[in-house]
Amino acid sequence: MKHLTDIGDCSPKQLISILQLAANIAQDPDHLVDTLSGRLLVNLFYEASTRTRVSFEVAAKRLGMHVVNVSALGSSVEKGESLEDTFHTIQAMMPDCVVVRHPDQGTALKLAEIADPGIHVINAGDGIAAHPTQALLDALTLKQGFETLSEVRLVMAGDIRHSRVARSSIRLLTLLGIGEIRLCGPDGFVPPIAELADGNAPVTCHDKLEDAVKGANAIMMLRIQKERIIDVNVPGADEYHHKWGLRQEHLELAAPGCRVLHPGPMNRGVEIASEVADGPRSLIKTQVRNGLYVRMALLQKLLT
Ligand code: CP
Repeated sequence: MKHLTDIGDCSPKQLISILQLAANIAQDPDHLVDTLSGRLLVNLFYEASTRTRVSFEVAAKRLGMHVVNVSALGSSVEKGESLEDTFHTIQAMMPDCVVVRHPDQGTALKLAEIADPGIHVINAGDGIAAHPTQALLDALTLKQGFETLSEVRLVMAGDIRHSRVARSSIRLLTLLGIGEIRLCGPDGFVPPIAELADGNAPVTCHDKLEDAVKGANAIMMLRIQKERIIDVNVPGADEYHHKWGLRQEHLELAAPGCRVLHPGPMNRGVEIASEVADGPRSLIKTQVRNGLYVRMALLQKLLT
């Protein structure tokens, strides 16, 4: 494993090994501190981010790495420099790892193909295609909450069509043997299952949130990805919340103790009510913390 551009870059054994190391770090957060001392990570972000960019930076610093952050805004990208020229410029400064986020799908793979030997490329989200480290942290969060993933009946609800998180998580959780994934969202927001999963994956589609959540023991809400929508009518916030927002009443239809996940950023009062986001079933802050552990584990595996 040299790069992580998509879940398919890793074998199931490698994915399990990253998750196991991340689980060990969660048990002992000082594990691996300073083991990559002096190495260099560059965050190259062409899109906004809070969780992913900051947690890669914190993960790298806990491992002892130096970190440089480059955003398209304020860099020579604004003067017309191409992605490739920007990447070659950064490569000339000999980083060990470049973490890239970009609105166009396939960007991380494109950079991995032109990366110098010894430089590792990690995809921090490319268009609607993939967000593999988010999938890893979601899988770790679910694994911590259940004896086995086969008992998980996960609802994924909202704007699935434009979500790279949904694509990567469906792929990874299916590989890891999740019991069930139930997709639901408004018209135009749920693509055909064949676009998201293999034919034998335990994935179903539901028309109503009320039906999908019945007996579910985990629910992942997804925000409307307005920045990627071109041909779907986006309902107003109140209308959307009424039909598709996760509220306390939905948790009463779900299995007792049903967990709630959201990759963030959340739009409170749209896809999720504050009473749920901040309630006792919410694992949203745990997801953020697990993002740190997963990214530490991934950097350790790639760079050693
Ligand atoms: N989940 C996620 O990718 O969040 P950010 O956009 O804040 O990085």
